[in-house]
Amino acid sequence: MTPARRQTAGRTTVLPRGAVAGAVPVALAVLFAAASPASAGTVGASGAGDPYFPLQGNGGYDVRHYDLTLGYDTGTGHLDGKAVLSARATQCLTRFDLDLNGLKVTGVTVDHAKASFRRQGQELVITPRHALREGQEFRVAVDYQGEPKPVTDPDGSLDGWIPTDDGAFVANEPQGAMTWFPANSHPVDKASYDITITVPKGRTAVSGGVLVAQRTTGGHTTFHWRQTEPMAAYLATATVGRFQVEQYTTRDGIQVYNAVDPREAAAATPVLRKLPSVLDWESKEFGPYPFRSAGAIVDKATNVGYALETQTRPVYDRAPDLSTLVHESAHQWFGDSVTLTRWQDIWLNEGFATYAEWLYSEQHGGKTAQQTFDALYGRPAGDDLWAYPPANPGSGAHLFDTPVYARGAMALHKLRQAVGDATFLNILRTWAAEHRYGHGTTAQFIRLSDRLSGKKLEGLFHTWIGTAGKPAKS
Ligand code: ARG
Ligand code: ZN
Repeated sequence: MTPARRQTAGRTTVLPRGAVAGAVPVALAVLFAAASPASAGTVGASGAGDPYFPLQGNGGYDVRHYDLTLGYDTGTGHLDGKAVLSARATQCLTRFDLDLNGLKVTGVTVDHAKASFRRQGQELVITPRHALREGQEFRVAVDYQGEPKPVTDPDGSLDGWIPTDDGAFVANEPQGAMTWFPANSHPVDKASYDITITVPKGRTAVSGGVLVAQRTTGGHTTFHWRQTEPMAAYLATATVGRFQVEQYTTRDGIQVYNAVDPREAAAATPVLRKLPSVLDWESKEFGPYPFRSAGAIVDKATNVGYALETQTRPVYDRAPDLSTLVHESAHQWFGDSVTLTRWQDIWLNEGFATYAEWLYSEQHGGKTAQQTFDALYGRPAGDDLWAYPPANPGSGAHLFDTPVYARGAMALHKLRQAVGDATFLNILRTWAAEHRYGHGTTAQFIRLSDRLSGKKLEGLFHTWIGTAGKPAKS
């Protein structure tokens, strides 16, 4: 069914068999202010204040754009990088951090003036020559190099720049961005990206967005990708390998770029052929597809054990099955365009993408959502499914476990039952429309559901996403 997503520890039984299967950074900074590590006056905080990943992201500024220029030697595994961040100070800053893990930094400038820096764990601490004023636009350039290494997540899976036999599988959820570029890497800070990657001729480097240029000279090929819609750092990729490439434009004008490892092509081709119809179906359910480009990166990296909804162009560790394609595509609305503000709200991504699989199955001759719900509900009270509340998985170790995916989807099914099909779809569409390119919180989703249904749904949500244990039949 969904082998790619099913291998991750603890997620082997996410679904029953047969179930196909503008950000407002300033306001959000305020949202986090109370939880943020003390930002002593003019020093940017070392984290965004997320209890699950306290050092992820930083305080004191907001990134508008990343311009990454990378060179990857697939023979030695060496990465040469230059990152230029265009940002705006949200407070006076005598010092601020970027997130970067491993690698060697060889130079930093702020507005073209050499800045001093030091490394402290995953923080790159930068002291500009002149303090930045609140509201000031500035440009940070970081030169770095080395052999990127993935991090091991609290759930035991690899995350970040993961070398493969022909390049690298690059996926950053929840914390891998810092393994290959310096960033403000909490999802609360979204930005546009230009990512330019040079690899040996014969290899392909694939990122999100549109391919604006490709050039081969002197045994190397350079790929320049541009993502104009705001993106969280965890949704960036720069996956490298030997790929078969297919490009076309859909009837709706979406530019599709698929890159497939030839060893996975036989299995991937029939599934990828359905991408336009899946996006079309999801657009009818959830509202217009949020991006101008789409596609898939199908690698052969089965040790990774999961796929990721990298923005516009999900990355798969093997040929996906149809339900996985539906799932990662649904994330383009839920997770990528509408992004969480704290990792605790991960069910807003995974519960929604899982429910998209249920809906797709129901409307394409498979099990109904009700059947999928009933099969899950039949699990005994001691089952992992009920181990903790989807909207409070408790730590980064449980972000991608069964309660978040399956019980999160069950909560949406209960919502659908309570408000009826038409209102339910209206809620999903309004959610995608009102928070497009921005962020959303669980509390906001509950308020929206109340507003559009005219009901008080607090109790339903409390039971289905807010409490541990198997809910009683209602
Ligand atoms: N969001 C991915 C999905 O669609 C899962 C990512 C899992 N990442 C991890 N580090 N375990 O299911
Ligand atoms: Zn997912």
